[in-house]
Amino acid sequence: MPLTIGIDIGTSSTKAVVVDEKGSVLFAGGPTYDFDTPQPLWAENDPQKWWDATLECLKTISEVVDSGDVVGIGLTGQMHGLVLLDENGDVLRPCIQWNDQRTAAQCDSITNEVGFDEVIRITGNPILTGFTAPKIRWVQENEPEIWAKVAKILLPKDYIRYKLSGEFATDVSDASGMSLLDVGQRKWSSVMTEVCKVSEDMLAKVYESQEVSAKLGIEVATEVGLPAGLPIIAGAGDQAAGAIGSGVVNEGTVACSLGTSGVVFAQANQFAPEPEGRLHAFCAAVPGTWHYMGVQLSCAGSNQWFTDELGAGVSFRELDDEAAKVAPGCEGLLFHPYLTGERMPHADPLARGSFIGLTLRHTRGHLARAVLEGVTLGLREGLDMMRDLGIATQKVIVTGGGANSPLWKKLLADIFKSEIVTVNASEGGAFGSAILAMVGAGAYPDLQTACSEMIKETGKTIPSDDAAIYDQALETYRKIYPALKEIYPELCT
Ligand code: XUL
Repeated sequence: MPLTIGIDIGTSSTKAVVVDEKGSVLFAGGPTYDFDTPQPLWAENDPQKWWDATLECLKTISEVVDSGDVVGIGLTGQMHGLVLLDENGDVLRPCIQWNDQRTAAQCDSITNEVGFDEVIRITGNPILTGFTAPKIRWVQENEPEIWAKVAKILLPKDYIRYKLSGEFATDVSDASGMSLLDVGQRKWSSVMTEVCKVSEDMLAKVYESQEVSAKLGIEVATEVGLPAGLPIIAGAGDQAAGAIGSGVVNEGTVACSLGTSGVVFAQANQFAPEPEGRLHAFCAAVPGTWHYMGVQLSCAGSNQWFTDELGAGVSFRELDDEAAKVAPGCEGLLFHPYLTGERMPHADPLARGSFIGLTLRHTRGHLARAVLEGVTLGLREGLDMMRDLGIATQKVIVTGGGANSPLWKKLLADIFKSEIVTVNASEGGAFGSAILAMVGAGAYPDLQTACSEMIKETGKTIPSDDAAIYDQALETYRKIYPALKEIYPELCT
């Protein structure tokens, strides 16, 4: 039976999986590493750590599976990171990662030169501090001696592809996060590259995610014990690959990930970015389609905070039971989850969390339920922006730790007014990139067929009569941010 390898170059670990045609996971694992914060707001890492981790994963894989059965490798990873190579292919400085925040001035200057509306029209998104183009400008302005030596600009997973094969290639979804791609046309934008003083030969060749982009080189193949010439599939950014890994391949299906941060991710057949850029609009891993994505910074993170600080030693499950006994709407208590500022729907680092409407009647169960309801109402705001763009959102596939809570799934169904589905796949982007490799290697004709064979639904929750109660709660919830936003700066000490 054909096997594929998926490799996810994450921020704090590299994870590899081996899967078979039916979606069974034969191997999952990989080493962790730290990244550096040499100055406040900075986040950097040495690409050599990712390469060492990748070699370790591939060597282990060739020991635990029959390497003759492996038909392809798919790549995914943290998006937006800037890897700079000189003309010999050597790394010039540590990668400036997606979570580095040093580039506010560069974001402003690029936006002013191109114009906000034009930036959204071309790239689908505002220029954000985490994205790649402002990092390039930062290096040009602050490290001109490094910039003078730059021959190639790569994203993290694409550096690993280069090490595996010698090829400079990327995929449309990851390239979308650079602020250099014309996302509607799926090719580099001459407007953005000219403004950013980047010549196209510095950039990687752009492929659709499922296309074969390179072949495993002989030297590496010998070192790790895999067949030389193994196809390396273009792959996808971590969110796009994660969506494939949970079966989101058609418009009408949304992925909702309930991790520390929460993500709502919708697959769409048309490119129509949100005019204010409050949702990310990227090329999707399904050829010729796009995806829209909203990121809530403290999702299950809010629940974790509540359990740790106010749960008095009680487990998530026990708090869930207490919360389940409380009536929907928590008798007028609302929670705003801006514990670490917010990104969607209000990009505001100064926003702060709050409980509003406390009375003597409220118990710990009310507070626990209000946290889950508040986080879910925030995610609904993201979903509503997608619905306003005309994207169908009938079915929501829920993943992440929060998907284990029956109460949270019920709240999602009632607040989203959608069917909530769980699936058997839990290996995220690595699994998604292995599925992309199955299609790229020809085991399946397309991603829809591959996902229907490799991913199975394990549960479904449908909206209940309680859904109507949340219409009023949502209306009130929306009024809280405008009412408090002037006050937040006074609270930031
Ligand atoms: C996507 C994003 C993260 C990073 C790191 O826009 O910022 O998903 O790719 O995981």
